[in-house]
Amino acid sequence: MTWAQRQEITLTDDWQFSRDQQAWQQVSVPHDWAISGPFDKKWDMQTVAIVQNGETQASEKTGRSGALPWIGDGYYKRKFTIPSNFAGHAELEFDGAMSQPVVTVNGQWAGSWAYGYNAFRIDITKFVKPGENLLEVSLKNMEESSRWYPGAGIYRPVKLLLTPKTHIDDWSLFVRTTTIGKDKAELEVSAKATSDEADNFVFTLLDADGREVASTGPVNSDGNAYAKFSVKEPKLWSPESPYLYKMVARLTAGNTTLDEKTVNVGIRTVRVSKEHGFQLNGVTRKIKGVCLHHDLGPLGAAVNKAALIRQVKILKEMGCDAIRTAHNMPSQMQMDVCDSLGMMVMAESFDMWIYPKCKNGYARFFREWADRDITNLVMSKRNHPSIVMWSIGNEIPEQGSEEGRQISIRLQGLCHSLDPTRPVTQGLDRVDNALWSGVAQSMDIPGLNYRLHRYQAAYDKLTHGYLLGSETASTVSSRGVYKFPVKPTDHGVYPDGQCSGYDVEWCSWSNLPDDDWRWQDDNDWVIGEFVWTGFDYLGEPTPYDGYWPSRSSYFGICDLAGLPKDRYYLYRSHWQKEDHTIHLLPHWSWGKERRGEVTPVYCYTDYDEAELFVNGKSQGRIKKVKEDKNRKLNNKAFAEENRLDRYRLRWNDVKYEPGTLEVVVYDEKGNNCGKETVYTAGKPHHLVLDVWTQQPSSLKADGEDLAFVTVSLVDKRGTLIPDASDQLRFKVSGAGTYRAACNGDATSLEPFTEPAMRLFNGQTVVVVQSSKQSGNLTLTVTDADRHGMKQQVVIPVK
Ligand code: GAL
Repeated sequence: MTWAQRQEITLTDDWQFSRDQQAWQQVSVPHDWAISGPFDKKWDMQTVAIVQNGETQASEKTGRSGALPWIGDGYYKRKFTIPSNFAGHAELEFDGAMSQPVVTVNGQWAGSWAYGYNAFRIDITKFVKPGENLLEVSLKNMEESSRWYPGAGIYRPVKLLLTPKTHIDDWSLFVRTTTIGKDKAELEVSAKATSDEADNFVFTLLDADGREVASTGPVNSDGNAYAKFSVKEPKLWSPESPYLYKMVARLTAGNTTLDEKTVNVGIRTVRVSKEHGFQLNGVTRKIKGVCLHHDLGPLGAAVNKAALIRQVKILKEMGCDAIRTAHNMPSQMQMDVCDSLGMMVMAESFDMWIYPKCKNGYARFFREWADRDITNLVMSKRNHPSIVMWSIGNEIPEQGSEEGRQISIRLQGLCHSLDPTRPVTQGLDRVDNALWSGVAQSMDIPGLNYRLHRYQAAYDKLTHGYLLGSETASTVSSRGVYKFPVKPTDHGVYPDGQCSGYDVEWCSWSNLPDDDWRWQDDNDWVIGEFVWTGFDYLGEPTPYDGYWPSRSSYFGICDLAGLPKDRYYLYRSHWQKEDHTIHLLPHWSWGKERRGEVTPVYCYTDYDEAELFVNGKSQGRIKKVKEDKNRKLNNKAFAEENRLDRYRLRWNDVKYEPGTLEVVVYDEKGNNCGKETVYTAGKPHHLVLDVWTQQPSSLKADGEDLAFVTVSLVDKRGTLIPDASDQLRFKVSGAGTYRAACNGDATSLEPFTEPAMRLFNGQTVVVVQSSKQSGNLTLTVTDADRHGMKQQVVIPVK
C-alpha cells in the first residue's frame, strides 16, 4: 500500500528550547523567548541618532526595541513521527521565525531563511525516515537590527505537510475574482501539480455551509491547471459582510484522487481609479485604517488567535475597516482572522532596502533576498480576501533616487506577476524627493506618510488623481493621564514619562487626527488613511526615546493592554457609522489642588452640538465649527484658532469642582439625543472583573484559547478610581493557567508573565489560558494594598 493522504500537522507541543544548548526547557510554539523579561535597559541600549526623527547628534537611547532580552541566539528541537508506510513528499512550512532560522532534520542541514517575518517552506523529503525524526531550528538576533520590539523565537506556527509524491504545490492554488456584476461574479482559479503523472484537476466551489455552488469538472493540466468560474448571485466579501466560500482543488490520475487542497475564498474586487478613488466591489469608500506592529503587548510576538480576534473586534467596534501590517509580512493566522471577521489589510514587507535605518537591519539581506521575500509574501497570502493591497516598503531611504525608482518598479512588477489583482503601494515620507525621483509616480497607489502640507503639491504633480495617507497622525497619549494647562504641542515631555490624554500632543513630523480628517473629508482624492497606531506596541517610546524607564509606544489609539484611550472615542465618533458616540474627558475625580482650577472638558461625539453641566450649572451649549468649503485647506487662521473644533466639542474654561459632569447632545435639528454623565469617585470599594472571550462566556479546551480580564478598582457606585495604582496579585486554578498581565503603563518594569501587576490609572488586564481538559478556570485577584480586597471569576472551559 502506498502512503496516499495529505496531512497537515501543526507542530505545537513538546518543543525543547535553549539559549545555550546546555539548559533546555519544554515550550510550545508559537513561543517568544524574550517576553518574560526582565525589562532592563542594558538589553538594547544604543547610542544613535534617529535620522527618521530628524536627529543629527547621536545620544543614548533606551527601550527602543522593548528593553527585553531578544538579542542573541536561541535553539529549538522537537521530535516528529513519519508514518511507517510513508512514500511521499514531506515539507515544513514556517510562518515566520525570529530570525535567520537554520533548519536541520536528523542532523542534516535542510534549509534556512534570513528575514524573521516571512513564511518559508523547506522540502525535507530526503531527510526523513519512517518512525521518529529530529527537527532542530537555530535562530540569531543581532543587536540594532530593529526599530521596534521584534520578538524572538519560533513565534508563528510550524506545519509539517505530508503529501503523496505527486501533489498540489502548496502555494500554487490561487483563486481570484475577475469581475462582479449584478447577478454573477467571474472567478479564475489556477493550481500546479508537482509532476505530470496527474492528468486532471477538478475545482469545486462550496458555500459557507459546505454546499456545492459550482464545479469545473475535469480540467486537463500539464501540471498547470487554469479554469474560470461563474457564480450566480454571489455573496460578496466586505468588512461589513465577510462571507467566505471554499475552493476545493482535487488532483486526479484516472479515477484516483492523488491530492486535495482547500482554501477560503472571498468574492470581491479591488480597484483604484482617478474617477472613483478606492473601490471595494465597485463601491467607493475611504479607508479607515490603522497601522499595527506584530506584537500582542504582554504576549509578545507569539501569535495567538484569540488575541488577534480581540484586536480586530476592538478595532471594528471603533469603525476601523483596515489594518496595515507595519512594516513587515503578517502572519497567516492574523489574515485568517481578518478574512473571517471582515477587516481589509495592506500587507507590508520591508522597513528598509539597501540603506540601513539601523546598523544590522534587513539592509544586510536586501540584495540577495528581496525578490524571494516578496515572492513568499505574495504566494503564501494571496488567497486572503482581506488583503486589498501590497506594500513594498516603509519610508525607504532610497525613495529620492533613480536606484529607488528602479527597485520600486521591480518589486511592484514582481507583485503584479504573482498576483495581477491587487494594487501596490509604499509609504513615502520624503514627498518632494519621491516626486522628484519618480518613485511616487511609479506606484499603483502613492502612499504619503504624514506631510499633510505636501498633499496638495503631490496631488497636483501626480497623474493618478488620488493618494493614500499610508501613515497618519502619530498622536501620542497615555491612557487616563491629563496634563495641565492643556496645550497643543509637538514637544510635550513630562517628568513622569507620560503624554497627555487630551489628545493634543504629536511629534515634529506628525499631527493630530483632526488634521488628517480635514484633508480626507474635503478631498475625494485622499482615499483614506492608516493611523499610526491602533494599539501601543513594545519599543519606540517616542517622545521618551532617551528616558528610562520607558519601553513601549504612546502612539496607540488603545494602550498596550488593548484598553481604549480617550482617542478611541474620537476616532469612533468620526468612523463608526452604525452607532452613536458620546464620550467625555477627562475623569472628574481630582484632588483638592484642582478645585477652582481650569480643567477643560472635551466631548467626542458624532453629534454636532452639546451643552455641558457641572453640578447642574451650564457651561455653555456649543457647536462644532464648520469650515468654509471654498477656503484653502492650508488656511492658517482656521488651523490655529479652530483646529480642534471641527471634530471635537471643547469647553476650555471649565473650573473643576467635585460632583457631576454631564453633557447633553443635540442633532442638527436641535433634538435632544442623549447624555453622558461622569461622577467624582468616592472611596475605593471593590474590584470589578470584566471577562472577554472569543466565544460567549467560555473558553475552548484547546490549551491555546485566552480570556482577557479587565480589572478595575471602583467606588461603591461603580465609578473608576482614576488614579489607583494598587499592587494586584493573581492566582489561577482549575482548567487553565495564568498567561500574562499588562496595565498599559509604558514606564512599568513589572514583568508581564509574573502573576502580579499594578493598576495603572485604575485598570489592568489579566490574560488567562485554557487547558486541554474541560472544567472551570478560576481567576482570583487580590489587592495587596487593600488588605482583604479580593475578587474572583469562574470561566467555563469546554
Ligand atoms: C514613522 C515610521 C514608523 C514610526 C513612526 C513614529 O515615520 O514609519 O515606523 O517610526 O514614524 O511616528
